[in-house]
Amino acid sequence: MDKALLELRKAVPWPRHKPEGIERHWGWISRVTKHAMHTILQQNNITPSGTVLELGVLYGKSARWWLRQKFTHIICNDLFQYKHAKGTHKRDFIHSNWDMRNKFTILPMGSQSALATVRAFEVPVQVVYIDACHEFGDAAADTLLAYQLFYGRAFIIGDDWRFVEDAIQWAAKTAGFQVGVIKNSWWIK
Ligand SMILES: C[S@@+](CC[C@H](N)C(=O)[O-])C[C@H]1O[C@@H](n2cnc3c(N)ncnc32)[C@H](O)[C@@H]1O
Repeated sequence: MDKALLELRKAVPWPRHKPEGIERHWGWISRVTKHAMHTILQQNNITPSGTVLELGVLYGKSARWWLRQKFTHIICNDLFQYKHAKGTHKRDFIHSNWDMRNKFTILPMGSQSALATVRAFEVPVQVVYIDACHEFGDAAADTLLAYQLFYGRAFIIGDDWRFVEDAIQWAAKTAGFQVGVIKNSWWIK
């Protein structure tokens, strides 16, 4: 495993023992989204071989999809304050993804802090996947910061175009980048 990734993992270790919890494997990555993202990766000549930084991992459904594409490691960021989870979000994520603990690094913080942290540790990232808060301010800030910190180092792709279009367009105009869109998935060109 990359040295910088190991250092990050030391800073945010998994617990020693699997917590009690509820198996939760649902998520919002759909068949259409999987197909669109697969196409986008192919069109952009991204051969999965490295780490994905996922902003907004929920219970890990999309993170497990990235692994199945043969990316080697997923940095799983979330605030873990999902409104229907009543304080059990992180516990259930850990419980449900215990078998993935060597492949998942958990980064429990706001998405913009996660971007800054991964850059500060200089972890090499192949893909940044933006799927956290879809409110205009957060989606715009996530995209702008991802562009500023990772463009040229990582491929930047996101979900839920229909909800975040205005925010992504604003970030694109502000920073001067082009956006590609297939179905509900988008990427920075
Ligand atoms: C659309 S869901 C993610 C779905 C997941 N990627 C999937 O496909 O199964 C959005 C997630 O973003 C998280 N979230 C909301 N605001 C956040 C923030 N500011 N920073 C990090 N995560 C956030 C929520 O807790 C939620 O789990």
